[in-house]
Amino acid sequence: LDNGLMRVPPMGWLAWERYRCDIDYVFTRPHTRLSEDGWRELGYVYVNIDDCWSSMKRDDNGRLQADPKDSQEASINWHATCMTGVSSWASTGTWAHTCGGYPGTTLDKIELDAQTFADWEVDMFKFDGCYSNATEQEQGYPLMSKALNATGRPIGYSCSWPAYQGGLPPKVNYTQLGEICNLWRNYGDIQDSWDSVLKIINWFFENQDVLVSAAGPGKWNDPDMLIAGDFGLSMEQSRSQMAIWAIMAAPLFMSNDLRTINSGARSILQNKIAISINQDPRGIPGRSILKEKSGIDVYWRPLSKNASALVFFSRRNDMPYRYQTTLSKLNYTTGSYQIYDVFTEKTMTLKDSTSFVVSVNPTGVVMWYVSAPAKRNIRQFYRGGRL
Ligand code: GLA
Repeated sequence: LDNGLMRVPPMGWLAWERYRCDIDYVFTRPHTRLSEDGWRELGYVYVNIDDCWSSMKRDDNGRLQADPKDSQEASINWHATCMTGVSSWASTGTWAHTCGGYPGTTLDKIELDAQTFADWEVDMFKFDGCYSNATEQEQGYPLMSKALNATGRPIGYSCSWPAYQGGLPPKVNYTQLGEICNLWRNYGDIQDSWDSVLKIINWFFENQDVLVSAAGPGKWNDPDMLIAGDFGLSMEQSRSQMAIWAIMAAPLFMSNDLRTINSGARSILQNKIAISINQDPRGIPGRSILKEKSGIDVYWRPLSKNASALVFFSRRNDMPYRYQTTLSKLNYTTGSYQIYDVFTEKTMTLKDSTSFVVSVNPTGVVMWYVSAPAKRNIRQFYRGGRL
C-alpha cells in the first residue's frame, strides 16, 4: 500500500502469541520495556495489542469501546499517557465477531471503526477475518483501506485476508493486496513450538514463487510473530527463526515477556546485522536456492549495495553437520567476497571458487552477510592508459 508507511518491514511487539486473551499483560508495560531496554533504537517501535481488549458491547453511538475493567481501561489509555508517537496500538477487528468473540466490524461499521481508531491515534490496524465469508472479505478489506486513508491519519494496515483464502492464487490476488494493505498474514497462526515455526518456513518456501514477487516496500508477507524468549524454542531454533524471518523480509513483531527475557534470546532479537538484513531498503525478499539431500537448505537474499545474505539451515537432528560448498555453486559470480558471520561476528574473505565448510547445528543456522565482490575496478584499471 502506497501510503508512505512501512517502506521496510515493520518491527515491534505484539501481544497475541504469548498472551492471547490475558489482557493483564498491559501491566508488563511492553512500551516501557521497548524504550528503556534498547529495543526502540533498533527499530522495534510498534506496540500491538490484539484481540479481547474491547467491551462486549459498543457504546450508545455504536462505537467500539474498551472493556471497563481496570486492566483493559489501562490498555486503551496507553496511547494517551505512555506512548510516544512512534508506538502503535493495533486491534483486531472482524465482521460480526473478532476471533475471540468480541464485537467485530461489519461492513456497515467500517467507516465508523476506522474513525474511532484514528481518534485513538492508532498507528497500525489489523483486520482479521473470523466469522466473515469470502464475499464479505472481498468488499470489506478494500473498503477498510479506503476508510483508514480517509481519516487522514497514517495507519499501517494489516490484512488477514489471504490467510482466510488459503494464501495462494487464484483465490488470493497479491497484486490487489499490495495496493490496499501494508502487510498481510498469508498462513496459519504461529504457536510456541519449533514444529509450528518449521511448518511456517516450509509453507513460505514451497510457495516462494508466488510470495517473493508479492512483497516489497510498503507491502509485506507476514509469517507471524517472533517467539524467541518464550518456552518452545532452543537458542539454535530462535536464531533460525530470526535468520529466516530476515531472509523473508518479514515483519519483526516479538511476542514475549520483555521483563524476563533471557540474555540469549535478547541478543538474537537485538542482533544488528540480522535486523539490518531484514530492514534492507531494497525490500526484495530472499529465496530458498538449494535443498540438499543431507538436510541442509540454503537461503539467499539480495541486498542493497550489491551485497547479499546467505543462510545455511540444518533440518538434521543428529549433530553439527559440516556442509562443504563454494560460492560459485551458490550462484555467485567470479570475484572475491568479504564474509561476515552474523551470529559469531567473524569475518573472512572467500573467492567464488574456494571450497569452504560451514558447521551447522541441528535445527540451527549459519548466517552470512556477503559484501559486494571486490572486483578489479574497471575505470581505475584503464585510468593509467587512457584517461
Ligand atoms: C486469529 C489471528 C491471530 C489472532 C487471533 C485473535 O487467530 O490469526 O493472529 O489475531 O485471531 O483472536
